[in-house]
Amino acid sequence: MIYNTFGIPATADRYLTVTDKEQLLSLIAQGALARPPYFILGGGSNVVFTGHYHGTILHLENKGIRLLTPDSPSDTLLVEAAAGENWDTFVQHCINHGWHGAENLAAIPGTVGASPVQNVGAYGLEAKDIIHSVHAIHAITGHERTFSNAECQFGYRTSIFKQALKDQYIIWSVTFKLSPRFTPLVNYTALADALADAHITNPSARQMADTIAALRWSKLPRPEETGSAGSFFKNPVVSPEHYRQLKTRYPELVAHPTPDGYKLAAGWLIERAGWKGRSLGPCGVYAKQALVLVNLGGCSGSDVLALADAITADVQNLFGITLEKEAIII
Ligand code: EPU
Repeated sequence: MIYNTFGIPATADRYLTVTDKEQLLSLIAQGALARPPYFILGGGSNVVFTGHYHGTILHLENKGIRLLTPDSPSDTLLVEAAAGENWDTFVQHCINHGWHGAENLAAIPGTVGASPVQNVGAYGLEAKDIIHSVHAIHAITGHERTFSNAECQFGYRTSIFKQALKDQYIIWSVTFKLSPRFTPLVNYTALADALADAHITNPSARQMADTIAALRWSKLPRPEETGSAGSFFKNPVVSPEHYRQLKTRYPELVAHPTPDGYKLAAGWLIERAGWKGRSLGPCGVYAKQALVLVNLGGCSGSDVLALADAITADVQNLFGITLEKEAIII
């Protein structure tokens, strides 16, 4: 069985599946995670295996989604979801129950437990905007801790779980702050255009999620058809000065101002570097979205890295920008 969406066969010293907390606490008490490295596998949708993993793979399969505030008259609904739940199952469950706020993150591959780690985001919404708190278990001591939203130190595709506390905590469940009322979030241009094209002026939660899923799959490969890890690179942020230089050279440059400078579309840079639709061995650049590297058949982790390195070098030479990988390489 291959447990990663890139479809790369990989092996590890040990592979543990966990479905309930007692089981996890007992593994921790036996020191199962005391000798790093270990790697927590969610949906395997953001990871590239480059060879045998000399360590333990912990696959979380705990399930459950529940409303913590059933009788609350307030506008905020707290919904707790187990880390092992599939992300889109969670989003659809919320829509079906009238718990709103997660619609723009419909159809993202992966699990609930992975969502705070890299603060997943799409179509104008990031996980941090709807996360209330994260409940986690220390991998060595078994100590349980609840992190408030602020304590998670969320950033663009990052959090404390990828930085200061990397590999220290196992996220067990995430509590989201949702609303009984649906307010459409349409500040992402491509989304606004898609709704206008479909003549939808006041979308329902269902229409919103369906429009987003359709938009997503019009640009990204479906994991069941083509192996990939979604966006392989992050969108880089450059200084205002660097941005102005580039904009003079490339007036059509795609960029958004952020507090730290200008965020550029890595897909655009890669396309301009001539890589869109091209390949190196069995690994290719997706023809509809240059930010995505795809498995053309029999691709290994080294093939992915070889292509990533070639793209990174060309983007560096052409624009003076070092692309950072979004996917985790292990
Ligand atoms: N673009 C190009 N050429 C390309 C791809 C994109 O010119 O080959 C341009 C587009 O024309 C557009 C801009 O780049 O003007 C942005 O493209 P898009 O809306 O597709 O979004 P993105 O910045 O490429 C990000 C996320 C995606 C998320 C989409 C939608 C990152 C690294 N990626 O991509 O997340 O779905 O926005 O919100 O931030 C993921 O992380 O796996 C992922 C798919």
